[in-house]
Amino acid sequence: MSVIAAKCPEIRVTVFDLNQARINAWNSDSLPIYEPGLLEVVTQARGRNLFFTTNEVDSICAADIIFISVNTPTKTYGVGKGRAADLKYIEMVARRIAELTVSGHKIIVEKSTVPVRCCSAIRKIVSSVGTQATFSILSNPEFLAEGTAISDLFNPDRVLIGGEDDEVGQAAIQKLVDVYSHWVPRERIITTSVWSSELSKLAANAFLAQRISSINAISAICEETGADVDEVSRAIGADGRLGPKFLKASVGFGGSCFQKDILNLVYLCECLNLPEVAHYWNEVVKMNDYQRKRFSENIVKTMFDTVSDKLIAILGFAFKKDTGDTRESSAINVCGALLEECANLRIYDPKVPANQIQDDLEYIGCSSDKIKRLVTLQSSAAEACRGAHALCVMTEWDEFKTLDFQAIYDSMKKPAFVFDGRLILNHEQLRSIGFEVFCIGKARVRVESPAFFFNEPPKTPGATVSPTKSKNDSPKK
Ligand code: UDX
Repeated sequence: MSVIAAKCPEIRVTVFDLNQARINAWNSDSLPIYEPGLLEVVTQARGRNLFFTTNEVDSICAADIIFISVNTPTKTYGVGKGRAADLKYIEMVARRIAELTVSGHKIIVEKSTVPVRCCSAIRKIVSSVGTQATFSILSNPEFLAEGTAISDLFNPDRVLIGGEDDEVGQAAIQKLVDVYSHWVPRERIITTSVWSSELSKLAANAFLAQRISSINAISAICEETGADVDEVSRAIGADGRLGPKFLKASVGFGGSCFQKDILNLVYLCECLNLPEVAHYWNEVVKMNDYQRKRFSENIVKTMFDTVSDKLIAILGFAFKKDTGDTRESSAINVCGALLEECANLRIYDPKVPANQIQDDLEYIGCSSDKIKRLVTLQSSAAEACRGAHALCVMTEWDEFKTLDFQAIYDSMKKPAFVFDGRLILNHEQLRSIGFEVFCIGKARVRVESPAFFFNEPPKTPGATVSPTKSKNDSPKK
């Protein structure tokens, strides 16, 4: 909304939230989220045509277009628990909009990521409230990524707007197209039906996450065979049909969207009685869980099968760099697993507040007593590593690449282990300093005789699926 206000000075944008503390923060110079470039954009428009308020009546009544931008978390109760999106906030807002709009016409835009056909649910809710007003419902999913939100919004690959097919629906689409056309070239604004737009958002996130799970699956093979996952990524990504992006192996994807949206897609498939499709997408999430588990298990295994009472420095807690967001961060799972093994953790992240880390660990079941005993939060990476047996890179913050590793090595217990879950460090340099280095997707042991593999029967024969015989089963070239 801040970018819309900055790019369209003649449009008045009002951001409404029930939470007074959050609105106060948006009206201050300490914004409630960290995002590079955001403060500049907010201050450019705030007070001119951008307003943050808790005044529900004014903001809803005065608006021609209302963007619903509430949370749609995965349901934690009842039908669809653990997979379906919880639409209670969407429903509350839709109902409130209809109650406060007594006449005229309003355009309601679904900005939150929602299940396919949510638009029809909103239509049903607003039509049932008994107002004289009329509504158009549009789907306008957001594709920005955290950490690069402002540049993604200034220069989007595409803007997607789905609307209803009738004349009123098409006019509503045009109205929103006119807003984005202030700065987005018209050919990058895609208009579709509402359902295509809703499904495209889920599908886009599922495809992106699938690429990460695919390269992470390959990273496991690399570790066993001596292939190097970065080299494989480069070779794959050079194919113009695939492209180089989203092929970075890691300790697993996090963030508020990927897992939630895939689970939502899985649930949709189950509801549509498409179990094979549901299974296919669910494996993307399972592979992600496997990658996290593999990482923490490997730490324990490498450190002589025990980390109990050992000091482990955790560098980074956010789900990616340049954000303070920890939602679904792999660091949470890895720390949880290490705490299960009674390790002492020293955690440092440049942007994540201490209470957030505490909340995240409690959320996955670590008792506050255990956290108090085993976790300390540090104000620098060097501090976190002092006296530690191992350091683990969990987030790819740039500052970790340029640490004084000689000084860090000197301050650590020996043997000093490095577990690079983001493949950002210079491993050769670290080895020459004396570190024992383990990283995702690189050989654990040098493989002397590749022929060995061909003599070994598969360890898990059940995991392979016999291919269906096809007409194309001609002798291979
Ligand atoms: C994602 C989508 O990219 C965005 O289009 C959508 O609107 C919201 O969800 P976001 O979650 O903010 O955005 O970040 P993204 O850059 O996609 O990264 C997601 C996770 O994947 C992070 O944990 C990141 O570290 C990880 N990742 C990304 C990898 O492990 N490897 C990669 O190659 C890319």
